[in-house]
Amino acid sequence: MTTVALPDYRQQSPEVAARFQRIRERPVILQVRDLEKAYGAGPSRHVVFDHVTLDIHRREFITVIGPSGCGKSTFVRIVAGLDEATSGQILLDNHPVSEPGPDRGMVFQGYTLFPWLTVKRNVMFGLEMRGRARSTAETEARQWIDMVGLAKFENSYPHELSGGMKQRVAIARALANEPRILLMDEPFGALDAQTRWKMQKYLLQIWKKVDVTILFITHDLDEAIFLSDRILVLGTNPGGVREIIENPVPRPRTLEQFLSPEFLALKARLDHLIHGDEPPDEEDKLPLGRMTTAGDDAE
Ligand SMILES: Nc1ncnc2c1ncn2[C@@H]1O[C@H](COP(=O)(O)OP(=O)(O)OP(=O)(O)O)[C@@H](O)[C@H]1O
Ligand SMILES: [Mg+2]
Repeated sequence: MTTVALPDYRQQSPEVAARFQRIRERPVILQVRDLEKAYGAGPSRHVVFDHVTLDIHRREFITVIGPSGCGKSTFVRIVAGLDEATSGQILLDNHPVSEPGPDRGMVFQGYTLFPWLTVKRNVMFGLEMRGRARSTAETEARQWIDMVGLAKFENSYPHELSGGMKQRVAIARALANEPRILLMDEPFGALDAQTRWKMQKYLLQIWKKVDVTILFITHDLDEAIFLSDRILVLGTNPGGVREIIENPVPRPRTLEQFLSPEFLALKARLDHLIHGDEPPDEEDKLPLGRMTTAGDDAE
């Protein structure tokens, strides 16, 4: 077997370095300051993460990865104002976050559309809640539905749509409220591989057209790399930030890049950060007893 030497995963081309320079010059939208989340007290106290500090710039795309249980959902729920940190602070446009608000849009894995409302009424819902007249809400909802490519389905009900289409409606509904930041917790986790890949491409196209910053949680390393500007890697034992990585893969992103040296180098690094050099877990091995020897001669 030949092995190919990969570049350093932090190595950026001059174009990518210039792009990050421009991102850093944009205003900071979200400040995460020494955030800690713990459960319980005394000896049974469990720190999910601590010392999480991060600035996210306007229109940046941040993905968050880490092993199951490291606190990805907890982190995004605290940003959403649905959960409270034990200590530390989150500032959105310099205002401390303490409760949910229309400046944060959310898209989760489970389909969260109202099943009794049509696509259009689902998207209009938040707009009307915020005091838009019905006719204005309808016009605006149509624009967002059109943008996610579902104009033909505005009068359909959620049960008449595929999983990917439902998530596009959820994205339209979240963006219709013009949030400053879109929070996405494994939004494509329940989709088949083909649809997931399409959704990733749709999301990048949508993000290009809208003034929105995205915080996106995923388990999937390819997805994290394909979408992001930067990747926040969380860990367990102890919980917290392992690394915040500037993604060296140039934009626009394409399928061919999945095999590029910089993509593979970053993926190897992420894999190492999440799984380390541990030998395979003994618990993963099944007992050796066999049920048949038929067909062994063909092996
Ligand atoms: N109400 C609770 N009481 C005690 N511990 C909790 C509670 N809610 C969550 N936890 C713990 O917080 C940790 C983080 O959970 P969280 O759901 O944020 O992880 P995650 O990284 O999103 O995992 P996954 O990848 O499986 O979605 C877990 O160890 C979990 O057991
Ligand atoms: Mg989670």
